[in-house]
Amino acid sequence: MGKDVIVACDFSSAQQVFDFLDKFTERKPFVKIGMELFYAEGPQIVREIKKRGHKIFLDLKLHDIPNTVKKAMSVLSNLDVDITNLHAGGTTRMMEAALEGLMREDGTRPLLIAVTQLTSTDQQAMEDDLLIKEPIDEVVIHYAKNAAKAGLDGVVCSPLEAGKVHANCGEKFLTITPGVRFADGDIGDQKRVMTPLQAKEIGSDYIVVGRPVTAAEDPVAAYNRCVAEFCD
Ligand code: C5P
Repeated sequence: MGKDVIVACDFSSAQQVFDFLDKFTERKPFVKIGMELFYAEGPQIVREIKKRGHKIFLDLKLHDIPNTVKKAMSVLSNLDVDITNLHAGGTTRMMEAALEGLMREDGTRPLLIAVTQLTSTDQQAMEDDLLIKEPIDEVVIHYAKNAAKAGLDGVVCSPLEAGKVHANCGEKFLTITPGVRFADGDIGDQKRVMTPLQAKEIGSDYIVVGRPVTAAEDPVAAYNRCVAEFCD
């Protein structure tokens, strides 16, 4: 899979997501399904979106004991998703177990991506709540290296960190980057943002774009603009 734009379908019902996806009659976007939609509609929503011809990033961020994560990953793999993820904070052993669970009988598996530190966690929260005293950017790179060591395919990170992740974990280690906004668009609640073109230049492999597409007056035009900037 090459560079692509992943649309975060942060809707709370199947009807809303289908109304949205029905607009795309030409190129079918790569779709991110998060907790809200998955918990509202269950695994059937994944099968239905897949059947409509979309690739799927199932963003459920698993974090549990290795055996539980392995078994859960096996179920998600059978849903035929293309990318899924977990928290690197669950340890290297948990990540290795997840990979084992994802492997299908035919030897294929979805790509597995780690979340390092959430962007909602800042240095203060990490020190006070988690008792981690190192600088947050070092923690992020340490977790990314653990993910690479465990055999994972990449990490979710800010586009601003993508270059550093590649420098430490190799060019083939994937960076999936949210926090993307058009140069002339609203940034909403995202703090550190980049345009699709800047994300491309810094070496992101996939950008995750939500509201700049889902809330646009013309979502197809907004999506095509992302593709033109990022992929072409
Ligand atoms: O609407 P917006 O473009 O901000 O959506 C970004 C998507 O990426 C959302 O689904 C959000 O949960 C997700 N995300 C993020 N920042 C992270 C990890 C995930 O914005 N660090």
